[in-house]
Amino acid sequence: MTIPVIIDCDPGHDDVFALWLAAGHPSLDLLAVTTVGGNVPLEHTTRNARIALSVAGVTDVPVAAGAAGPLVRPLQTAEWIHGENGLGGPELPEPTVPLDARTATELIADTLMGSVEPVAVIATGPITNVAILLRDRPDLAGRIREIVWMGGSTDRGNATPYAEFNALVDPEALDLVLRSGVRFTMVGLNVTHLALVTPAVRRQVAAVGNATAAFGDELFEFFCRTNDEVFGMPDGPLHDPVAVAVLADPGCVGLRRTRLDVELLGVETAGATSVDLDGMLGREPNAWVAVELDVERFWAGVAASVARLA
Ligand code: BDR
Ligand code: CA
Repeated sequence: MTIPVIIDCDPGHDDVFALWLAAGHPSLDLLAVTTVGGNVPLEHTTRNARIALSVAGVTDVPVAAGAAGPLVRPLQTAEWIHGENGLGGPELPEPTVPLDARTATELIADTLMGSVEPVAVIATGPITNVAILLRDRPDLAGRIREIVWMGGSTDRGNATPYAEFNALVDPEALDLVLRSGVRFTMVGLNVTHLALVTPAVRRQVAAVGNATAAFGDELFEFFCRTNDEVFGMPDGPLHDPVAVAVLADPGCVGLRRTRLDVELLGVETAGATSVDLDGMLGREPNAWVAVELDVERFWAGVAASVARLA
């Protein structure tokens, strides 16, 4: 029994691996991909999503472009990690996967309505598109099985001292989604910083030996270099596929039920996620938060998915 999923993303090196993990995993049925402005402007993230699927030979999944920027704030981008075009490293081929004429929210809505079963939404960028959908089509909330989002942290940030990048870019969208009542899982830096692209991981993925793996290794090369330059992390953390692993292989990621809020007002702390693991606030829990990762099992899953692609 597979889980139908939609991925909403802003590729981005790690988003590409999230797409590949979902597209190649036997437990998931990737129904649609939507894009958002985030790591780089929307024009690039959309083209990059099409390239990621084209390289992997995934030609039957529609890709639609969504919000160019956050609900209320100006867009902040992350070229220093991902390069000017969002996928620094390999020479990028022309995508063979076409751009769907619908907007991201139209494609998500159509996909939800066209599925017999509720569909899971995995978001690996600023969560703007999902917020717009829930704001404009609250009638569809019941058709969303759950939302799994890479972002936030139980600890500190990577874009400001207290905010993770995806949360920082659109905290109002995160707040709206958290209030929707749809089951929500946050996969934050506290676990994604365990998904390190070590030299052994690079060998493991390269050993798959197909075109997807070769392209992926060039992505790893660039991503590890920029993570070393910016964060002193030569084994770059491959954040986004960990959110996919939550659904693809639930035994791989440990979750805790807790209260999750996001800071909207803070001058220095906007976008910080407040994760009340010890129940200090006495508020009703509203989310699941990832707290553990079986690192070997995670990478074995990534390599096996890449092996099922072109
Ligand atoms: C998140 O921000 C982006 O740079 C990555 O693609 C990931 O989604 C990590 O903070
Ligand atoms: Ca991302």
